Amino acid sequence: MGGGSLSEYERIAHSKITRKFRSAGQQLLFSRGRRGEVSDANGVPYIDFVMGYGPVIIGHADAQFNEILCGYLGNGVMLPGYTTFHQEYLDRLLGERPGDRGAFFKTASEAVTAAFRLAAMRTGRLGIIRSGYVGWHDAQIADSLKWHEPLHSPLRNKLRYTDGMRGIGDTEPVANWVDLRLESLAELLERHRGRLGCFVFDAYLASFTTPDVLRQAVAMCREAGLLTVFDETKTGGRISALGYDHDNALGSDLIVIGKALANGAPLSILAGDADLLALAERARLSGTFSKEMIAVYAALATRDILEKPVGDAPDGWTEIGRIGTETAAAFTAAAADAGVEALVGARPVLGGGMFELVYHDVELLGDKERREALLAELAAVGILLLEGHPSFVCLAHRDIDWGDLRERARQAFEAWNATAGAGRG
Ligand SMILES: Cc1ncc(COP(=O)(O)O)c(C=O)c1O
Repeated sequence: MGGGSLSEYERIAHSKITRKFRSAGQQLLFSRGRRGEVSDANGVPYIDFVMGYGPVIIGHADAQFNEILCGYLGNGVMLPGYTTFHQEYLDRLLGERPGDRGAFFKTASEAVTAAFRLAAMRTGRLGIIRSGYVGWHDAQIADSLKWHEPLHSPLRNKLRYTDGMRGIGDTEPVANWVDLRLESLAELLERHRGRLGCFVFDAYLASFTTPDVLRQAVAMCREAGLLTVFDETKTGGRISALGYDHDNALGSDLIVIGKALANGAPLSILAGDADLLALAERARLSGTFSKEMIAVYAALATRDILEKPVGDAPDGWTEIGRIGTETAAAFTAAAADAGVEALVGARPVLGGGMFELVYHDVELLGDKERREALLAELAAVGILLLEGHPSFVCLAHRDIDWGDLRERARQAFEAWNATAGAGRG
């Protein structure tokens, strides 16, 4: 095809998301991760608050994690069917939910697709009410919003991914619950009455509302005959062992847990009542790699570490919440040091396992270019984080020198403010 050969970057087909990290205008290619840091191909280190978009929870190349994982590898990687390791893992994960079964997947998009199919089989209806980013498969992403934008952001409502998608249309409507008001939900339930089988909610959006509203939302959807799915892909195994729905007793029919279960290895679980999960056979909810074992070994190793006390904290999840809270405070303090606290700061999300930048200025909130320019300035001082998306911390971030982080962030905020000022002047 065409003339010359592809450069090292062009060989990989990216979505926009993996092109985000740049330094001096160049896309970064990473070569190594150690504890809470990563290095690029030139050996430049960065404090990593991306954490692979959430899966890394203990840290990169953690010695204890690697040792436990390697110990398991002598049993093989794939056997003819499920194994005692899968069984043990579900016993540990779902110990507090004795009536539940779990189905194994590699990605959360798969687990959410499985939940959609169970809902359709249970209710006989294909339509979905969706709130939040719930995966990249067609019915999950087609005609969706910028879900991670705050409710009042001018960027939130722009419809995206409108081309080339199936599994969406008049007979199988996919309706967005945009503003998280119960009146709007009631209106959607009424408008698509008789065609809706499933309600799915990204637990991260719980940080935009209250447990009480969500409890009512789940109850209203169940009342209307929908199967309810709480998607704990970002939160389960991160803000706590099982996530928001379980901790707040919301009572959704199914929960999806993904990302942080296995410190970076691909594992996602769909859990719910044994009767409902018994439909898995008729629904054909598995593929070749569903029974792959490296991710299960990694998940067992992750639990071995997180279940134990860390410092003064009773377990790793509590300590991670403390670390994320401290990280957000360091960025907020740095913004004040740089005199930009009226524009930007940071807040812990759902207890601190995640944190995010907050924009106090509406003009800045609507200015994606200027927001992304801040990420470039942070990368220039050796800090990688996310924008328009929560950022993530791991246990190894306990090592952070908080004074150094605050000072580096101050430099980035100052440099950003200076260039923005020059541009606008
Ligand atoms: C809430 C939620 N659901 C589903 C997904 C899809 O997960 P995966 O990328 O593993 O398919 C994501 C990914 O970011 C997510 O945040």
